[in-house]
Amino acid sequence: MKVLGIESSCDETAVAIVDERLRVLANVVSSQIDIHRVTQGVVPEVAARTHTERILPTLEACLGKAKLTLDDIDGIAVTYGPGLITSLLVGLETAKALAFATGKPLLGVNHIEGHVLSNLLEQPVSEKSKRALTFDKKRLPIVVLTVSGGHTELLLLKKIGQYKLLGRTRDDAAGEAFDKVAKLLGLPYPGGPAISKVAEQGLPNRYPFPRPMLGMDNYDFSFAGLKTAVWREVASMSSKQRKAATSDIAASFQQAVVDTLLGKAGRAISEFKARELWIVGGVAANTLLRHQARDVARSKKVQLRIPSFELCTDNAVMIAAVGVSRLAKGKKDAIASLKADPNLDLITVR
Ligand code: KG4
Ligand code: ZN
Repeated sequence: MKVLGIESSCDETAVAIVDERLRVLANVVSSQIDIHRVTQGVVPEVAARTHTERILPTLEACLGKAKLTLDDIDGIAVTYGPGLITSLLVGLETAKALAFATGKPLLGVNHIEGHVLSNLLEQPVSEKSKRALTFDKKRLPIVVLTVSGGHTELLLLKKIGQYKLLGRTRDDAAGEAFDKVAKLLGLPYPGGPAISKVAEQGLPNRYPFPRPMLGMDNYDFSFAGLKTAVWREVASMSSKQRKAATSDIAASFQQAVVDTLLGKAGRAISEFKARELWIVGGVAANTLLRHQARDVARSKKVQLRIPSFELCTDNAVMIAAVGVSRLAKGKKDAIASLKADPNLDLITVR
């Protein structure tokens, strides 16, 4: 089985092909970072127009890399939400056209589930196991922290396709906070890697920024107040002082985000007796988060799994992987009824 995945929910135009064992046959990502750096953030109209220009060349490049044609593909998986509506539409309409022209099944994929299952892609697949998406029940349940530019959610994975939402951000996503604070500090877009880099030279305890909602008895997050606390600090400084303090502010902010995310994740591991901790999404590329998550996992005696850097940020491999799981269960979507949903939620179990 070979599934072609298409991802265009934000600012990466991506196409990938994955087989039934989740082996990656080709993975092409056309990033718009250079375009959005000029405006220090994604302008939806510009993102959608760029997707329109790039989607077919990206598709052709992907098929070329895999040395396959559309005849070799068994299903077309595509992100239909959540994300920017105009960006989503480009990928979705392309996938629908391909499914219509070839008669292959169309598989709508939730972008967040894609991030979650990105963690399965690099795990060794037992030679005996025919289906890469089944794994030992002893590993369940799993606490999953999904942290990206659009999302910050804590989930409990009970089995593939069943995710209980434990908590989410009430305002800004963690990646969004990185991007906004970077802007305040005059650092380039995207803010996550830029902050992480300058923070290497900074003191993480120089500024006692808040750890929002950490003490509360729930799994929700809130990063807008933290961003405002950084803004207040920056606003009280001259531009010379700000320049001198940039690395300390960045390090202190980053530490506050990481403490908050891991504090809640750690508590969820204990409460739900989880066996593994997964961290997925763009912010999972953060070195401090990866590092300190190891300490949490060690102290809670759980296995930590974080995708490689390449699979943390948006890509179509993870979308094709969810497509494989849906196709293996005999599921598909009707071309006429699959609609882009910018606010799509993960289907949760209670
Ligand atoms: O998953 P992703 O590529 O797109 C969304 O679905 O949003 O995540 C992008 C986000 C951006 O906000 C970016 O600043 C953040 O992930 N990010 C990071 C790092 N690399 C990317 N945040 C912190 N540290 C990083 N190293
Ligand atoms: Zn994403």
